[in-house]
Amino acid sequence: MASHLTHSNQYVLAIVIAIIVFTPKLTSAKKSKIIGLKMNVIDKCWRSDPEWRKHHPQLATCSMGYAGKMTNNIGEDLVHYKVTDPSDDPVNPKQGTLRYGASVIQGKVWITFQRDMVIRLMRPLLISSFTTIDGRGVNVHIAHNACLMIYKATNIIIHGLRIHHCKPQAPGMVMGSNGKVMPLGQVDGDAIRLVTASKIWIDHNTLYNCQDGLLDVTRGSTNVTVSNNWFRFQNKVMLLGHDDGYIRDHKMNVTVVYNHFGPNCNQRMPRIRHGYAHVVNNMYLGWLQYAIGGSMEPSLKSEANLFIAPTSGSKEVINFSNFISNSYSSIVF
Ligand SMILES: *[C@@H]1O[C@H](CO)[C@@H](O)[C@H](O)[C@H]1NC(C)=O
Ligand SMILES: *[C@@H]1O[C@H](CO)[C@@H](O)[C@H](O)[C@H]1NC(C)=O
Repeated sequence: MASHLTHSNQYVLAIVIAIIVFTPKLTSAKKSKIIGLKMNVIDKCWRSDPEWRKHHPQLATCSMGYAGKMTNNIGEDLVHYKVTDPSDDPVNPKQGTLRYGASVIQGKVWITFQRDMVIRLMRPLLISSFTTIDGRGVNVHIAHNACLMIYKATNIIIHGLRIHHCKPQAPGMVMGSNGKVMPLGQVDGDAIRLVTASKIWIDHNTLYNCQDGLLDVTRGSTNVTVSNNWFRFQNKVMLLGHDDGYIRDHKMNVTVVYNHFGPNCNQRMPRIRHGYAHVVNNMYLGWLQYAIGGSMEPSLKSEANLFIAPTSGSKEVINFSNFISNSYSSIVF
């Protein structure tokens, strides 16, 4: 599209687009006392309430895209649970720990954190259906060992966590999402792994430096929205679709919106097999191999993304075999 431009013109174009995108309008900056930036529709929905700390569950009404509204996660029967203890026992979790709230308590639970903490999980955390993990207002790191997994579960919100330095885990026993101890096979070192999961909203997390990938959506998972996250320092960033032979992923629908990729992301933002992804309004700050890729006849709609190519290395945005639709509104080469 911009191929007729000279090199220096392209550079100017990149800067102009960056300025347009990142300069807040003065009027809206005045209106928003909270951060001085124009907020996107998700953030405006909760953050423009100065008392949002008193109304945590209202967040559930703010989701968009294929996850839909997360209103199944709230209501009269909602249990409020506060994590007070950063320790972890994978088979006999103590009350006050994250694992007790996320795996043992069944039904609707809204998990918040008492204070800043670093949680080093001893085994993957299996999150049960109708659970929200809400890290707003505190600095919560899940880091340096096992990380998050959603296995055969639905209606889950993961918001405001810093998940990094996740490591592969050997097979072993772990508290299952039904509150019963179960054997779990070997897992790769992903920050968040979805296996046969649906209606999942992953919003405002910071994910980086994991041994495998940052986010895997696999084995028939669908109805997923990935929004407002910051992905950085990673080779394989986001995988949608388990493997070439996993035909059930034909039905996968994923929305990827308002995310920030980079610096130092290499590839798979996302890489998709089989299903459908709507990739919209994301910001790509460079890559090494490619930004968006896919195989096995996936469909991908790329809309209003900002691609800022690396100064050296591959300038190719896509790496696709038989993709169906693609439209870019602001490619910068
Ligand atoms: C995904 O969402 C659609 C629309 O709400 C729904 O019809 C479908 O059953 C959902 N799929 C799964 C596997 O939950
Ligand atoms: C995925 O979304 C499309 C509309 O974009 C819809 O027709 C289809 O039924 C959805 N699939 C599932 C499994 O929800």
